[in-house]
Amino acid sequence: MSIPNHTLQVELRGGVEDRSYPIVIGRGLLADLGAFVPALDDVPVVLVTNDTVAPLYLPRVRAALGTERKVTEIILPDGEDQKDLTTASHIWQRALEDRHERRSMFMALGGGVVGDLTGFAAACFLRGARFIQLPTTLLAQVDSSVGGKTGVNHAMGKNLIGAFHQPEAVLIDLDTLESLPDREFAAGMAEVVKYGCICDPQFFDWLIEHTDALRGRDGAVVADAIARSCAIKAEVVAKDEREGGLRAILNYGHTFGHAIEQVMGYGNWLHGEAVACGMMIATRISASRGWVPDALVERLSDFLDAFGLPVAPPSEMSAQTFLDAMALDKKVDEGRIRYVLLDRLGRATLVNDVSCEEIAEAIA
Ligand code: NAD
Ligand code: GLY
Repeated sequence: MSIPNHTLQVELRGGVEDRSYPIVIGRGLLADLGAFVPALDDVPVVLVTNDTVAPLYLPRVRAALGTERKVTEIILPDGEDQKDLTTASHIWQRALEDRHERRSMFMALGGGVVGDLTGFAAACFLRGARFIQLPTTLLAQVDSSVGGKTGVNHAMGKNLIGAFHQPEAVLIDLDTLESLPDREFAAGMAEVVKYGCICDPQFFDWLIEHTDALRGRDGAVVADAIARSCAIKAEVVAKDEREGGLRAILNYGHTFGHAIEQVMGYGNWLHGEAVACGMMIATRISASRGWVPDALVERLSDFLDAFGLPVAPPSEMSAQTFLDAMALDKKVDEGRIRYVLLDRLGRATLVNDVSCEEIAEAIA
């Protein structure tokens, strides 16, 4: 049996049932799936992946599931454009045709697109089927697979249709990172450093110290960075599962980032790239308010730059362009744009009073 590097728990004990679940981080986990997923036994499986990930990792998952079990394998074309109701409907069709029941386990093998879509399909299937996350991108491992936000895109915007539906386990097989392109790895690293900025100054310092090891994908250092990121996310989700307040801090850099993704056209900037740039804007505004030192802006910028992440917004975007795009974002609260700033390194705060002038100064 593979020995995990780390095992964490997302504690969700409120309500009628205990919905807590493990996050297991280590090598060789996909091939040893049954050992880490609670009550998998002979449960039928709806296994969803895409045509990039399938040739790389599907065979080991299939082998781990054995030959006796009913497995409905769904291999989607790669791409964010699959994250829609049409594809969700295709998953439901296949699951119904194969006579799956609510006890069937949906499995998401892939990045955030497969994870969000499969989780959403599971949330709606027979009013809520079981599911687990097998994330294969760094971004999915440190962010999207944890916390139960599932959903699809709508013509009117990204992630507008969805449900909170927690997985029963998240298995992070570090071996999958070996095939991940550098650009995708860097995009995930933006979310990693986000956790240091908003919750943990020691983790931020540790990341800066280990920049070279992280860039070189040193296995033990990357595993520790993933584990700390997941631990922070698990803690925030445990306190505020449905984003009544605190969970919104996880959107650090995202309000500006979503504006960039929207204006530049989805897919041209990766989500993590837009978040990197968004965090720079939010950190500059925090610094100009005197809440964090100017040196922090430089340290964050150097870290992001080391991974080739963008630290300056596209030249065609003015402060007004940002404001217009952000007004359409989900994070608008009673008509006011909600921003996450830092009132010190490691502590995020929500505000709704950022002026056009402050944005203009931060993007200059
Ligand atoms: P993605 O799922 O599109 O994956 C990026 C690319 O990497 C794809 O081409 C994919 O096929 C490929 N890939 C995946 N694993 C690989 C591997 N091991 N080796 C080689 N290639 C691999 O993108 P993503 O960045 O993982 O996720 C982005 C999505 O996640 C967006 O839809 C975003 O809205 C969503 N998201 C959700 C949450 C949440 O809380 N639910 C949080 C952040 C982002
Ligand atoms: N990715 C933000 C959240 O899960 O709340």
